[in-house]
Amino acid sequence: MSDTFTFNLLATDGRARRGEITMPRGTVRTPAFMPVGTAGTVKAMYLDQVRELGSDIILGNVYHLMLRPGAERVARLGGLHEFARWPYPILTDSGGFQVMSLADLRKLDETGVTFRSHVDGSVHSLTPERSIEIQDLLDSDIQMQLDECIRLPAERAEVERAMEMSLRWAERCKIAFGDQPGKAMFGIVQGGTEEDLRVRSAEALAAMDLKGYAVGGLAVGEPQAEMLRILDATLPALPAGKPRYLMGVGTPDDILKSVARGIDMFDCVMPTRAGRHGLAFTRMGRINLKNARHAEDPRPLDPESTCPATRDYSRAYLHHLVRTDEALAGMLLTWNNLHYYQWLMAGIRGAIEHGRFDDFFAETQAGWARGDV
Ligand code: GUN
Repeated sequence: MSDTFTFNLLATDGRARRGEITMPRGTVRTPAFMPVGTAGTVKAMYLDQVRELGSDIILGNVYHLMLRPGAERVARLGGLHEFARWPYPILTDSGGFQVMSLADLRKLDETGVTFRSHVDGSVHSLTPERSIEIQDLLDSDIQMQLDECIRLPAERAEVERAMEMSLRWAERCKIAFGDQPGKAMFGIVQGGTEEDLRVRSAEALAAMDLKGYAVGGLAVGEPQAEMLRILDATLPALPAGKPRYLMGVGTPDDILKSVARGIDMFDCVMPTRAGRHGLAFTRMGRINLKNARHAEDPRPLDPESTCPATRDYSRAYLHHLVRTDEALAGMLLTWNNLHYYQWLMAGIRGAIEHGRFDDFFAETQAGWARGDV
């Protein structure tokens, strides 16, 4: 097993990349989808199942874990891998984004951010240094810099201020992270929908020679075309030899189009959260199991799937579970959705290896367009 953190590009097809990130706890095959395990659990799933579906890495969140059960407690219990029984790589988000979306009474300045917990109202602060310290306590393999992700639309001056401060926070995180050969600290490109600010952010982060780079501040309500325009402008400014992670994205369609532009890693609550709300992702597109049309439909979601949740349970039964708000509804649909996402990622990787990504893209889109018949 490797004792360093390395990224190898194995194949390219157009701008799409097939790679491998190797670190002591395992290898991440890219393009990769990272299931979100906010509080040390991928909701409604056993982590053994998450692994079996082909997940090489999962996500954890500084914000949630610092509030409950607390980073120092996780460290005393052997770190997040031991605590959650996931011995493979874990990437942790730095907390800034979740503070902005979840916490109350935020105060943000050059030092960091102070906020009131959404759980019990207690007051906490996060500085770039404390975020890295927490990620070290969790023993995270890929750590994220603390950044400021502002809501869009926003005035250009405000976008620029947040982007520049995020760069200064990246420097502070880099120093706080220090030299940890088997681990990585990724920088996060910000700059809203302003292409020149995005390029400036990407170039400044590239000059810091970090082990990987994320694109943040996207999929926050802007149209998909805006997101793709920003990726087109940003990615050429990032070094080809380092992994590129698009944070919080997205739908299967977002993923295909972002891989086509050179993104290597994704995370999103979409498959897990949508599963708990009765929505199934399939080869035929999305199926809303809440809908009354499924009430007497004996067919499974997809008879050709290898996933038991997808292949063995009738739509009528799934509909019944969703309508009666049974825990099993969320479990089966999350299983189906993560299976579909990881199946899609495996298909993407294979297609890039064989130089047929465009065909795979077209076939996948055609399946969604044909629909659920
Ligand atoms: N998750 C989704 N978008 C973002 C972002 O811009 N920053 C961070 N830290 N996490 C994210």
